[in-house]
Amino acid sequence: MTNMLLLDRRRIFWITIISGIAIAGFILLLFILQLLLVPVLVYIFPGLEAPFYDLALFGAYRTQDYVSFNLTSPQTSTVRWDDSCDQGYIFLDPSGPAVGHRGPLIVDAQGGLIWTSDQFQTTTNLKVQTYRGKEFMTFWSGQKAKTMGTGSYYMMDDTYRVVHKVDAVGDGAHGDLHEFKITSEGTALLTVYNKTQADLTGMGWFRSDHGWIVDSVFQEVDIATGALLFQWKASDHFSAADSYMTNPFGGYTEGIPFDFFHINSIEKDRNGNYLISSRHFHSVMTIDGQTGEVLWQLGGRSDEFEDLSDGKASDFSWQHDARWLDEEEGILSLFDNGYAWPHYNAPYSQGLFIKIDFEAQTAELTQSFVSSGHALSSSQGSVQPVLTEEGEEHVFIGWGSSAAFGEFTMEGELLCETHFAASSSFWWERVKSYRAFKMLYWSGTPALWDPSAAISDGKLYVSWNGATEVAYWELHGTVIVPEQEQGQWQDVDVAEKDGFETSFSLQTVSGEEEGARPYTYFRVAALDAERNLIRYSNIIITIAALWHYRKRSWKIVDWRQMAQNTIDRTKYQKLW
Ligand SMILES: *[C@@H]1O[C@H](CO)[C@@H](O)[C@H](O)[C@H]1NC(C)=O
Ligand SMILES: *[C@@H]1O[C@H](CO)[C@@H](O)[C@H](O)[C@H]1NC(C)=O
Repeated sequence: MTNMLLLDRRRIFWITIISGIAIAGFILLLFILQLLLVPVLVYIFPGLEAPFYDLALFGAYRTQDYVSFNLTSPQTSTVRWDDSCDQGYIFLDPSGPAVGHRGPLIVDAQGGLIWTSDQFQTTTNLKVQTYRGKEFMTFWSGQKAKTMGTGSYYMMDDTYRVVHKVDAVGDGAHGDLHEFKITSEGTALLTVYNKTQADLTGMGWFRSDHGWIVDSVFQEVDIATGALLFQWKASDHFSAADSYMTNPFGGYTEGIPFDFFHINSIEKDRNGNYLISSRHFHSVMTIDGQTGEVLWQLGGRSDEFEDLSDGKASDFSWQHDARWLDEEEGILSLFDNGYAWPHYNAPYSQGLFIKIDFEAQTAELTQSFVSSGHALSSSQGSVQPVLTEEGEEHVFIGWGSSAAFGEFTMEGELLCETHFAASSSFWWERVKSYRAFKMLYWSGTPALWDPSAAISDGKLYVSWNGATEVAYWELHGTVIVPEQEQGQWQDVDVAEKDGFETSFSLQTVSGEEEGARPYTYFRVAALDAERNLIRYSNIIITIAALWHYRKRSWKIVDWRQMAQNTIDRTKYQKLW
């Protein structure tokens, strides 16, 4: 008996040691693989880049640095491509533990950076909406606490200036992250998650009649005046006991209120009623715009429609972003998550089109959309119809807690898919974007900042965060000597804008004639497609340059960036 125990202990000891060494060796091997082997293999076999990306061999969230810009952007991986996707701009709001700054993000169809900002807190729901005939970029920004938020809604014009800020109305009411929808009447629909008390005895387990819930409230607010026009509370119409969400600790204390309903989208229909989505009731419903009464429900426990698709039109769960795709035809679109930890209701998430016939009281699934890797997203997600420049109808889907977006034909064929984090890390939700939208047109010219130029390693880099109208960059140089009054800017080089950041080689930094002095100052002019000047960059001052004898050119070895694009000669002429 004792011997056997001893043997077992010894065996356990050795198994522990050996497996420890094996694990350490495996990690070391992965490290070596990542550092040495991966770049070489990708160089030899470019086709390996996408699978390596998804295996997180470049990290869960691979980012791109810039010389002339101090923020990073995700390096995306295209896993499916069709040229018909190669147009427009994509609006994202990356957040999650792997994301450095959780701001708004616009990228082009290929994933190249257009605009990002660290001037806001966590951002969600970045998109373009029309208010009084003018387009605005709108988003929520504030503090995210678990699955809800307390913040405000911002509306930016095409110069990236916030021109309207909208807030929830009422004492202690804060705008929540889930919805900010501008109506054609110049009002905004927004969500408020409000901690309050409710009778939870129906939930059992000794919950009290003064238990704690997070109420799902939505408001319609006049944007111009901030006046509250309509308000609806889920707790007036639904009982927490009917929620599909479970939380064994929820509802007992103020610190852990029970989020029983979880409203996540609102839309006003042509009759003035509201279409809303309740994630925790697995239900899409319409609320009477006058009385607040629930007019009908699709999905969930109180589903009122006969399902013509063997349950597939009404068995969606934990869904997001319910919209009228075609109100006349009765077609809804929504993002069916199918999963909310610990409830696995479906093997993968899908975008859905559902046709409702109110006369016959029937619902039919007319189309579904699945990602290439059958992503199962526990939260977030969006479905958006987009019209291509050629007039084709596509469907653009943001996969929510899975860091991916994709474009489909209306028939459900996947055309394009882009990952902005490794798919092997989707389950851990290291990176996510609440929603993702594609806009064919967005024209931005920043008012508050100029193009930014910087020198590194003999090259001058230039970028202009958010500027969409730049077609060419023109490099200007000037030689100013102390005894001269005025330096003349000369055209040194011109380059077509190439992605977010464009660089000029500064091999030749001096004037044309033999033995000329090196340029003292550089600036870059942002030109539009007709080569009209849009704006000058900051000025770069060359502090020290060395004459490269063999190349017969100057190499800048020290330089300084000036904040504004005006030359303060009195300050800088002493440098030469
Ligand atoms: C980046 O630059 C902007 C503008 O100069 C500044 O406001 C911001 O704090 C900087 N961010 C970081 C992360 O350095
Ligand atoms: C939020 O809850 C508080 C406390 O119950 C209540 O007084 C207030 O009216 C609620 N606000 C909204 C907008 O529902």
